[in-house]
Parts: sequence; structure tokens; C-alpha cells
Amino acid sequence: MIRAIEWIGETEGYLQLLDQTRLPNDIVRLSCREVVEVFEAIKVLRVRGAPAIGVAAAYGLVLSIQRVDGSRRACEQLVKAADLLKGARPTAVNLAWAVERLKAFAGARISLPVAEFQRAVLAEARKIDHENAAMCKAIGQHGVGLIAQGMGVLTHCNAGALATSEYGMALAPLYLARESGVDFAVYVDETRPLLQGARLTAWELSQQGINVVLICDSMAAQVMKEGRVQLVIVGADRIAANGDTANKIGTYGVALLAKAHGIPFYVAAPSSTFDLSLANGTAIPIEYRGDQEITEGLGKRTAPEGIKVYNPAFDVTPAALISGIITENGILKPSELQK
Ligand code: MRU
Repeated sequence: MIRAIEWIGETEGYLQLLDQTRLPNDIVRLSCREVVEVFEAIKVLRVRGAPAIGVAAAYGLVLSIQRVDGSRRACEQLVKAADLLKGARPTAVNLAWAVERLKAFAGARISLPVAEFQRAVLAEARKIDHENAAMCKAIGQHGVGLIAQGMGVLTHCNAGALATSEYGMALAPLYLARESGVDFAVYVDETRPLLQGARLTAWELSQQGINVVLICDSMAAQVMKEGRVQLVIVGADRIAANGDTANKIGTYGVALLAKAHGIPFYVAAPSSTFDLSLANGTAIPIEYRGDQEITEGLGKRTAPEGIKVYNPAFDVTPAALISGIITENGILKPSELQK
């Protein structure tokens, strides 16, 4: 399985990221030795996907306490780095979740000698990474029963190994089904404007020998009408207490189409994606990104100079459109999240 994030070495080590802005054409691994480099990588989507940016940020905090004298000073540096990293992207709650977890962990160990403090923080970052990998596997095991022989499955954006520590969220059930010999086709929305579906999901799934059919986002309705899709699985960036789910822009449209065609629509997400402090999806912060993501493509301008642009990177799918949420603890109805 592809590893998008790897910590190399021990406390004096560095973070290695697979640069996802270069896929599928170039496989380039990037070494981050400073927390600002991790911030930049998250901001411009060199590393992306809700769980992955949480894991990358945790290792970013490890970088922030290298070469610092004294645990108190190291902890101050870590808190500063935590504020910086949390601001990189607002929608995926996993980012704030991982950063806050490590901040609390470090704060409780301030009395340790600095070398021990650094070792402990690295061990906790690794734990977040390994826990994420285990959650992916468990999500796959709970979701694999949804995949039947000969089925067409549609997915949006990339919620695969590239977006997590391993296996992925939405793609984990597909990998496990494939491992047990089930044959199916995956219809991959290209996912405008940054093409995570075309560049990342299509690449990732075909690397694993899965039958991929790439479609433009605007083809999903027709493909469903033709009876080619029996199941939709997507990931999530943040799920409110009532089950309303934020995910890549376009997911809401796919959910509406699935409803119109009587196709089950599942969200695959770990519990670190739940934000039970929000009653419903209206309070989920949505990230707005630069105009050029829409006005430029294929290395040239694709819209008139000076045109007004609206570019929300995420939308919120109402719980009523969601058949189930595949978590590491089983498949839940959106109304069961708080139990
Ligand atoms: O902007 P991105 O590429 O970070 O958006 C990613 C998604 O929307 C994924 O579907 C989501 O993070 C789930 S990843 C398991």
C-alpha cells in the first residue's frame, strides 16, 4: 500500500511526504525539516485528505521541538507551531484534533528532561499515525460486505491511502473486497477543480489492479441512470452531531443524485472526523480557496481575465441523504453518532 507520509529517523529525524500536487506524472518525495515546510505542504495540498493532514501536522509538531533547550521552551515552541498548523486548513476537524491531542500530551510532560520530552512527543505522533492506519483497516473490514461481485461503485475526490496513513477510508472496503477476489468497477469522479479523483484516486486504484472508470463530475447522473452504479462511498472532513457531513465540493450533488436513483450513499470516516460540538452541518467551517484553481487549468487560463469566482472547497451533505457512516466501530446510521 502507498505511504503518503513517513517519519524518517528518530527524534532528530524528518518528515517525508509524497508530493500529491505532482501526481500522477511524477513521484516526488519531499523532506520537511521545519514546521513551516509542513504548513506550506498542507496549505497547497502536497499532503491532503482529512486524516493525512492530522498525521502530517502531528509530525510537524515533532519538528518544532528539535534543537530546543529545555522542555518548557520546547513546549512553548510546540504551542506556537500548533496554532500555525491548525490555521492551515479549516474544514477537516482531524487537523485540529491531532494538534490538540499532541499539545495536551506535551503539556502534561513538561517536567521531563528535554530528550525524554522529545522522545515522548515523537512516540505520541507515531501513535496517531498507527491508530489511523488501524482505523482504516477496521473501516475496510466493516464496509467490505457492501461490495458485491460485478457491482459498480462511485466515489468522489480521494479518500484512499493517499489521504490517510494506509488503506484509506472510502477506498478501504474496496481494497479488502479486491483482496478477497471480488470483481467490481469503480467510477471515479474527476473532482473539479483540483482533480483529486482523476490525478489521485484513479492512479491509486489502478496501482492496486482495481478496475477504474474515470468520469467527469457532470457525468455522474447519466452513469447512474444507465444503471452502472449500485453503491456510492465517499470520505468526510467533518461530521456534525446529527450526521451532516462535510466533504469535497460536489459530494452533496452526488448524494442528491444517488437519492434520485435509489442508490445507497455511504460515508466512510474514523471517529476523529466527528465533531459532536456542532449540532448540525450549518456550523461547519468551509474553506474557500483561490480563484486561479477555477480560472486556470492545463497550464493556461480557462476563463476571462478579471472574472468573478466563487470557490468553496467543501460542501455539506445533509444526514437525510446518508444511508450509513462506516466507522472503525461499525456502520452507524447518521442518527446514531452520539450514542
Ligand atoms: O481538499 P482535499 O483534497 O484535502 O479534500 C479531501 C476530501 O474531501 C476527502 O474526501 C476527505 O478528506 C476524506 S479523506 C479520508
